[in-house]
Amino acid sequence: SQQYENIIVERPADGVGQITLHRPKALNALSTPLFKELNDALQNLDQDPSVRAILLAGSERAFAAGADIKEMKGLTFSKAYSTNFIQLWSTTITNLNKPTIAAVSGYALGGGCELAMMADILYCTTDAKFGQPEIKLGVIPGAGGSQRLTRAIGKSKSMEIILTGKTFSGEDAEKWGLAARTFSNFEELMKGATDTAGVIAGYPMLAVKAAKEVVNQSQELSLSEGVKYERRVFHALFGSKDQKVGMDAFANKVKDVKWTH
Ligand code: CAA
Repeated sequence: SQQYENIIVERPADGVGQITLHRPKALNALSTPLFKELNDALQNLDQDPSVRAILLAGSERAFAAGADIKEMKGLTFSKAYSTNFIQLWSTTITNLNKPTIAAVSGYALGGGCELAMMADILYCTTDAKFGQPEIKLGVIPGAGGSQRLTRAIGKSKSMEIILTGKTFSGEDAEKWGLAARTFSNFEELMKGATDTAGVIAGYPMLAVKAAKEVVNQSQELSLSEGVKYERRVFHALFGSKDQKVGMDAFANKVKDVKWTH
């Protein structure tokens, strides 16, 4: 983690890797250097056998206030198109094996909101400020916002948010199903997110990987294809050691299960 300038990598609990976005002077605006570091750190945690869940956080004031507008303002169509601008953002985080939890406090605007929505679980403070304000800059969401927000909260609300650029609260995010849970303040948020990551990290690794995979498939497949996919992966887990460990422990009334991971 020492070599990073825009992020901090820590281990807040057993089996949990945490990445904190850290560009405080720019409210964690997502620059290309920041994203290169984030992707590098995500890949390292994903490959590290001692990590089984990943937490992504910002500061109390801002998860991230969007793409770095100052970096982006001179961009031309030909540069954007030829470099496939912003594709780099979503390829790593949406292809990790391990579950990710985004912990959002303060601003999650534009690319910040989009990044939070790429995580497997979204937690936030009740007064977090989400939004897709790109319309005010003469553009539209470019890192999946129009697609992920619409899948999460429906077309009409998503249209309203993207066309007006208005923010919505963490409380709304939970009510609409975008966030799994809200917390009264930053400390509670980080504690809650770390606890959940710790719970996940305590479960058998193959089952966790499989569970994440099948839920994510529900966003891509039809219901009958998804149910069939789930059943095949369910069958595959009978080939894992931890299925025997877990079911034997239940049958023998063993309380403290020792997973083989
Ligand atoms: N890019 C670059 N710098 C940013 C930034 C951004 N997205 N957001 C904030 N900053 C910088 C500000 O320029 C300022 O820097 P200076 O001190 O050098 O002037 C510093 O962070 C603090 O910001 P403010 O002084 O503006 O703080 P505030 O409390 O008055 O306002 C805010 C906070 C409402 C979040 C405001 O900063 C803001 O509106 N930011 C931009 C939000 C935005 O439009 N995000 C979408 C970006 S486009 C995008 O993300 C495209 C995509 O889909 C991928």
